[in-house]
Amino acid sequence: MAGVEGRVIAVTGAGNGLGRQYALVLAAAGARVVVNDLGGARDGSGGGSSAADAVVEEIRAAGHEAVANYESVATEEGGAAIVRSALDAFGRIDGVVANAGILRDKAFHTMTAQDWDAVQQVHLDGGFHVLRAAWPHFREQRHGRVVVATSTSGIYGNFGQANYGAAKGGLIGLINTLAIEGARHGILANAIAPMAATRMTEDIAPPEVLAALDPAHVAPVVGHLLTDECTETGAVLVAGGGQVHRVRQFRSKGVTFAEVPTIEQVGDRWADIVDLDGAVPGTNPVG
Ligand code: NAI
Repeated sequence: MAGVEGRVIAVTGAGNGLGRQYALVLAAAGARVVVNDLGGARDGSGGGSSAADAVVEEIRAAGHEAVANYESVATEEGGAAIVRSALDAFGRIDGVVANAGILRDKAFHTMTAQDWDAVQQVHLDGGFHVLRAAWPHFREQRHGRVVVATSTSGIYGNFGQANYGAAKGGLIGLINTLAIEGARHGILANAIAPMAATRMTEDIAPPEVLAALDPAHVAPVVGHLLTDECTETGAVLVAGGGQVHRVRQFRSKGVTFAEVPTIEQVGDRWADIVDLDGAVPGTNPVG
């Protein structure tokens, strides 16, 4: 196979915004798509089938293949049901785009445990549930493609997004290990940090900035990560408004203490410890 032709790909949160765009582009490129969306509001409240149905209708009207799924990614049963939709409709699952997301922005001093939990459950737990259900199929067929939706808020932080940034950072931790565990089984796992004008960002960025951020710019990057030809794994890509780049962790040269240092001795060498001149890409020293 070439590209995503004939591949079966589940896109979570595909009823709106970026997920919808991913589903449309993948279907147009020949993939068979599970359009998952529980149809809730931006904060995760409510639900319904119309968002997923509308995208499926759009794909079918264009002569391509898709089925709808209305489960929440936030439960183990929901994750399993999304993968089952792919198997029932198309007999296989080749890729997952863990894209479903909600926002509960609050400055940390006003953030409740509910605000925290709701966001972890959709983004981080949601990624786990769907990927965990797809993983045995990927291993067995020795082919799988994982793309998780992270965020520049997870990479760099953002005011009011401690819950969201933690979940998005967690997804990078997840794909780091999935890339290692998947390597022997033909499974690639990468993260996309999109920048796009959607209902999620409509009141966050000014209109002139949003005007340049059509979600259409992000979808081909996600599409590439799902192709048979892609060899990238464990990467974090930032994409939006035509700009696409990779971010990754670097480590400073650092300092090696021959003896256990005192707190003062650490302080004395601090400038050398944090100096990034000559920094190199970091790898796990105990992995
Ligand atoms: P959106 O709000 O337009 O779409 C998110 C979709 O996820 C909605 O259709 C919603 O119903 C669905 N969803 C929410 N909870 C769900 C659940 N439990 N189960 C199934 N579906 C659920 O948002 P947008 O902008 O398209 O975001 C897509 C992803 O990209 C999210 O993970 C978001 O955090 C991420 N992202 C978006 C950025 C942007 O610039 N728009 C920036 C960084 C990250």
